[in-house]
Amino acid sequence: MTARRKLAAGNWKMNGTAEALDQVRALLAAHGAPGCDILLCPPATLVHRMADLAQGSAVAVGGQDCHAAASGAHTGDTSAAMLVDAGASHVITGHSERRTDHGETDAQVRAKTEAAHGAGLVAVVCIGETLDQREAGETLAVCGAQLAGSLPEGATAANTVVAYEPVWAIGTGKVPTLEQIEEVHTFLRRELEARFGAEGAGMRLLYGGSVKPSNAAEIFAVRDVDGALVGGASLKADDFGGIIAALEKA
Ligand code: PGA
Repeated sequence: MTARRKLAAGNWKMNGTAEALDQVRALLAAHGAPGCDILLCPPATLVHRMADLAQGSAVAVGGQDCHAAASGAHTGDTSAAMLVDAGASHVITGHSERRTDHGETDAQVRAKTEAAHGAGLVAVVCIGETLDQREAGETLAVCGAQLAGSLPEGATAANTVVAYEPVWAIGTGKVPTLEQIEEVHTFLRRELEARFGAEGAGMRLLYGGSVKPSNAAEIFAVRDVDGALVGGASLKADDFGGIIAALEKA
């Protein structure tokens, strides 16, 4: 089996100004040589400062979105190359809040992911079903279609991480059962291997949606869960540190 290094990824969403960098200082002090990869994705305004702070540490910094184009007349957008210029090594693409708030389609997510790869960023590509879709028995079909549509041909184990985030579990405190998580992750792993072969076997698969220090260990024990994409609980060093500690032990 391909060895996949575990990844604890934090998505700060639209939270945080300069004072929030104290949480990063605390995290760096507590996790100097972690037994897993750590990624923090702050709002665009903090990427540069956080990257400066984390330089040379075990914490990587990423954006939360990028435009598919390299530059041009796209007011308010950020290109992948700009994120690299600011010190980012990763970028989240296709988060369900982007898909909902900005109507992003799989084709757009794929183009953004391709742009991220072109600029040398690792893309954390998000997929996941809504509650209606789950209740209609469409979870695997929806996730399979999003996975196929959102990943470009050039996706590799090195440049792509996939995050399974059931929309109904994000920010709600509701978490799927461990069996439900395993069912989707096993399915996604098979799909990745079928399309990308050994590269698909090596891609990290994260679970995301209401991960907390109190439920992290049981989620990380699920087969084919290689870490988590964490929203709310990534904002505080203590909470995120608890999740990192659970992942180190997994
Ligand atoms: P949450 O968010 O951990 O606050 O549920 C997860 C995410 O949206 O990545």
